[in-house]
Amino acid sequence: MSKQRVLTGITTTGTPHLGNYVGAIRPAIAASEDPSFESFYFLADYHALIKCHDPERVEQSRREIAATWLALGLNTDKAVFYRQSDVPEIPELSWFLTCMAAKGLMNRAHAYKAAVAANEEAGEDPDYGITMGLYNYPVLMAADILMFNANKVPVGKDQVQHIEMARDIAARFNHHYGDHFALPEAVVDDKVATLNGLDGRKMSKSYNNTIPLFLTEKQLKKHINKIKTNLLEPGEPKDPDTSTVFQIWEAFASDDQVAQMREKFADGIAWGEAKRELFELINGQIGDAREKYFDLMERPADIEEILQAGAVKAREHSAPFLEKVRRAVGLKPMA
Ligand code: TRP
Repeated sequence: MSKQRVLTGITTTGTPHLGNYVGAIRPAIAASEDPSFESFYFLADYHALIKCHDPERVEQSRREIAATWLALGLNTDKAVFYRQSDVPEIPELSWFLTCMAAKGLMNRAHAYKAAVAANEEAGEDPDYGITMGLYNYPVLMAADILMFNANKVPVGKDQVQHIEMARDIAARFNHHYGDHFALPEAVVDDKVATLNGLDGRKMSKSYNNTIPLFLTEKQLKKHINKIKTNLLEPGEPKDPDTSTVFQIWEAFASDDQVAQMREKFADGIAWGEAKRELFELINGQIGDAREKYFDLMERPADIEEILQAGAVKAREHSAPFLEKVRRAVGLKPMA
């Protein structure tokens, strides 16, 4: 049997934080080391333009996200690592899929519906501020996935609907033009932790409660010290299961270390001490990568070269495949 293809994209609008690392980057890099998979990981920089109209932010985020994956040891000989915008076959495929995508299906996309609902709530026109980019977002995402015939798409729960839409569009295309696309499946790993942020809610850029992955030691310490706790004094037993400090500990610690920290909570460890230990744990695991990251961030030409090489590999798949798709829809050379 041929290898299972795993593909996922990262929208380049933000700075990677501990939640991204634990929930997506760390498991993806681990999967890319598994020889039973072929991994395709890319910077979804066309998707970035849907929600971010600040060119400098997009540029900075692309650099940060690429440097993050490379610093953490993604092996680009094994995984195909590329930018969406370096693969012109993707927007071209997106058009073919647009012509097969039911408008009614797109009307049901969560991101679009949420934007309409927010407008209605605010008493605005339902379409206020909504671009065709937002509306077509799931079609572009389907093109990302179907372009490489991905079988498995690791994503957060919020993205599952988009994978289902990609399946739908692929099935309709296949039904009409013949079997061209593999039907992708979303992979939502329940074992992978969703981290909470400084205020105890899910760590997310939109809540402004993140701990960026690569900070100086001093800044990392500062952020960890800002994690919200209760007012229990040193010596008073603390509940690990409602504590963000403990929850983040669990995402980095071994089973033994988790058990030990649980005991320390029962014994009334001081919040300051628990935070100091958390800092040591995280710092120990990302210290080396942080140095590589800051080094790479100073060498954008080297990142560019790696991404260009990734685009060449990606296009070895996408160019011949798109040629077949063009022919399938009736766009062949005349002679
Ligand atoms: N929309 C995804 C997100 O915001 C990113 C993404 C774009 C993606 N294209 C993709 C994820 C294709 C998986 C497959 O998280």
